[in-house]
Amino acid sequence: MFFMKAGILGSGDVGLKLGDAFVSLRHEVKIGTRNTAKEKIMTWTKKHGEKASAGSFEEAASFGEVIVLATLWAATFDVIKLANPKNFSRKVVIDVTNPLDFSKGMPPALALGHANSAGETVQRLLPDANVVKAFNTVGNPHFFHLDFPGGPPTMFICGNDIEAKKLVTNILTDFGWETIDIGGIELSRLLEPLAMLWITYYFKTGTGNHAFKLLRK
Ligand SMILES: NC(=O)c1ccc[n+]([C@@H]2O[C@H](COP(=O)([O-])OP(=O)(O)OC[C@H]3O[C@@H](n4cnc5c(N)ncnc54)[C@H](OP(=O)(O)O)[C@@H]3O)[C@@H](O)[C@H]2O)c1
Repeated sequence: MFFMKAGILGSGDVGLKLGDAFVSLRHEVKIGTRNTAKEKIMTWTKKHGEKASAGSFEEAASFGEVIVLATLWAATFDVIKLANPKNFSRKVVIDVTNPLDFSKGMPPALALGHANSAGETVQRLLPDANVVKAFNTVGNPHFFHLDFPGGPPTMFICGNDIEAKKLVTNILTDFGWETIDIGGIELSRLLEPLAMLWITYYFKTGTGNHAFKLLRK
């Protein structure tokens, strides 16, 4: 087991759920937010004690040895700017975002279409960082403490840097996942539509208790 500092940008359900998981595994977490005085953030930091804190986006990015991007897609550009791209340099950035367009109602559409992706966009915005797409193909209640009767589900990841993907694979293993590395960051073009499949099934069934698993023989 290794211990690290994780800077999580975004204090929504995704950011706080991933924060819960990192702290449970004894990593240190700083949540980056526009407003550290928000009640749910104060409750979250209090719950976790000394290993948990909150700060500005810039403070969280500077703190993190690993940075998690857990932002509303439309806000991601602003958040990266506020966090200062220099703070991402040579770090592993786990991109959890899905580029969702809610303008035409629910279920949302894929804002960037199929010839571009959030993962690639984030990597272009942060050329000195090692971006790994992960956690975007499952609902946040199932990031951690997995108890699917069919065994550990599969998290597909992609990114350009092998060492970064090894680190993310180790994190996913500790969280309870089987991980499959599908290739470079451009394969976010497959993982983000896969998230749409997860979301579509959520709207069809009204439950989020599903995850993907690759079966082999
Ligand atoms: N919901 C899921 O289960 C799930 C699963 C996998 C992936 N995802 C993806 O993960 C990402 C985060 O999901 P979420 O549900 O946690 O998102 P969210 O609550 O809608 O937003 C996350 C954070 O984005 C920041 N943000 C929003 N508008 C902003 C603005 N105008 N300027 C600056 N920052 C702004 C906020 O940070 P502060 O309010 O702290 O400033 C907010 O907490 C999304 O891209 C989503 O598609 C979601």
